[in-house]
Amino acid sequence: METMSGNAGNPPESSAPYDKKKGGGMTMYALVAIMLVVGLVVGYFIGASLAQPAQTNDDLDDILDRGQLLVASDTTWAPFEIYNATSQQYEGVDIEIAQRIADELGVDLVIKPLGWDAVLAAAQTGQADISISSITITPERAESVDFSDPYYSANQAILVKADSGIHTLSDLDGKKIGCQLDTTGAIWVSEHLVQTGNVSENDFIQYSDIPSAVASLDVGTVDAVICDTPVAIAYAKDTHFDFRVAFTIYTYEDYGVMIAKGNTALKYEINRILAEMKDDGSLHAILVKWGCA
Ligand code: ARG
Repeated sequence: METMSGNAGNPPESSAPYDKKKGGGMTMYALVAIMLVVGLVVGYFIGASLAQPAQTNDDLDDILDRGQLLVASDTTWAPFEIYNATSQQYEGVDIEIAQRIADELGVDLVIKPLGWDAVLAAAQTGQADISISSITITPERAESVDFSDPYYSANQAILVKADSGIHTLSDLDGKKIGCQLDTTGAIWVSEHLVQTGNVSENDFIQYSDIPSAVASLDVGTVDAVICDTPVAIAYAKDTHFDFRVAFTIYTYEDYGVMIAKGNTALKYEINRILAEMKDDGSLHAILVKWGCA
């Protein structure tokens, strides 16, 4: 009785251990349940943030604020990026891809025509938001910039005059070869023909752009020009010249959009748009339109 009165309003002491035990059991279940729920919620957010990176304060914000997407491109490379003097417009596969990216982001497209070396540096130096210019994804380049997922596969081709005696790789021995400086074609010739001694250093002429190399081929300063397959094929078809593609060198290159390093949100958007263009057939349609598929 004493105990009971002393414990007025509280459970009898005798039952306290039982109550505590019972209460302790319930707390455990509740705790486990809460931990499960918390785990699920945290897991969901981690998963969501992995799938869709939180928008960091990077170039994507600048693009959206500015209302313009600045795209660097060496627009001397038909049929991927070329200035059409008649329509006074930039056109080609890459220009249409750039337009779609701008459209999807809801901003205007501004093409920044730059020399090839500047195009390769533009995303990093901030001269443009991205570079789209038939840029081959290479491990060396990927050390200093980021690339989107691949959107086109190309190889190298040897362009010659229609009446040239060059038909196979060994026919290039001792010949004069032209290319665009700092392209994958230039690197290929340097590694496989110049460093091996098949072509002399002096006979390997690197031009700042491909039209200059092709003009030299036309007047006979060089015997062959190396460039990406779609470009060589377009020149071979061009009735202003009398060229043919002598042969293809299978380098299995992938073109990607160049983005400054660490621009996760922008890269995510570009990859999303490229994937959409692959899925909805519009990328294929663009390639067909420009004779590249
Ligand atoms: N795909 C080659 C490379 O990345 C050549 C690209 C040249 N592009 C251009 N617009 N000139 O090296």
